[in-house]
Amino acid sequence: MSQDRNNETLLSASSRADIDRWVEKYPDEQRQSAVMAALRIAQDQNGGSLTTEWMDEVADYLQMPAISVYEVATFYSMYELKPVGKHKLCVCTNISCMLRNSKGVVDHLQDKLGIGLGETTEDGLFTLKEVECLGACVNAPVIQVGEQYHEQLDPEKIDKLLNDLRSEG
Ligand code: FES
Repeated sequence: MSQDRNNETLLSASSRADIDRWVEKYPDEQRQSAVMAALRIAQDQNGGSLTTEWMDEVADYLQMPAISVYEVATFYSMYELKPVGKHKLCVCTNISCMLRNSKGVVDHLQDKLGIGLGETTEDGLFTLKEVECLGACVNAPVIQVGEQYHEQLDPEKIDKLLNDLRSEG
């Protein structure tokens, strides 16, 4: 299994070490419990999305059926099964954000970026994604970019955010 083919795996040594830290949290016979963390780590290493090959790598590394990994990767919205832009703008449109004009946020972003929800800009810089509650309802409306939340958004804040992200490249 994975130990026999470490040199062939898509997973880098650093990714394998990260996954191992999660695996260690569970009993030996439950290493598949690390599947969500492992998929996130694999996705990060692959530039923000997963392919069948990467999901198979995770299945192999965790010694679990590939179909079980596919089930997790296709169920949760944080996993991407097609390439995304460098910056993934996750716009919450759930109830609290909806009541605080998340539609205006989506409209403004679509207008500024020239793309719709689920699409990526031609320069590969931005992907716009609609997500469920981000758990920051008190500061709605909210966008998540990477591990960062941007809250109480209005058009000016959105424009500044896009400019900042563009200047990062
Ligand atoms: S509804 Fe948007 S963060 Fe909770």
